Amino acid sequence: MNNQQQKGHSTDLLFQPFSLHSLALQSRIVMAPMSRGFSPNGVPGPDVAAYYRQRAENGVGLIVTEGTVIDHPAATSETSLPAIYGESALNGWAEVVRQVHDAGGKIFP
Ligand SMILES: Cc1cc2nc3c(=O)[nH]c(=O)nc-3n(C[C@H](O)[C@H](O)[C@H](O)COP(=O)(O)O)c2cc1C
Repeated sequence: MNNQQQKGHSTDLLFQPFSLHSLALQSRIVMAPMSRGFSPNGVPGPDVAAYYRQRAENGVGLIVTEGTVIDHPAATSETSLPAIYGESALNGWAEVVRQVHDAGGKIFP
């Protein structure tokens, strides 16, 4: 037992799976939302999928994405934020989700 564990500060628990109802997470690590803005015309591309996939690959249980833009004129004036409506944007997100699930993670907008 190391010094951290003796003091009850072990981080091992963070890396253990967690389940709540139908949600099964590979770890107890949840990634907080962080603004990015790498989705030209609101469409998340392969680089965005790769960004989120990397987090799942490295053990994040649940990813909360950057802010997404709804279909309302007041939602944003920034064109690089990912939209959560429209065929192109939703197809982009579908690929993000596919990649994250493939890497064992879960993701929430
Ligand atoms: C849509 C959205 C975007 C965010 N973007 C950032 C960001 O770019 N950088 C940042 O430090 N925190 C950002 N935050 C806040 C973080 O998610 C987090 O709450 C904050 O860093 C404080 O963390 P703490 O509550 O653990 O202290 C964002 C929150 C939301 C809801």
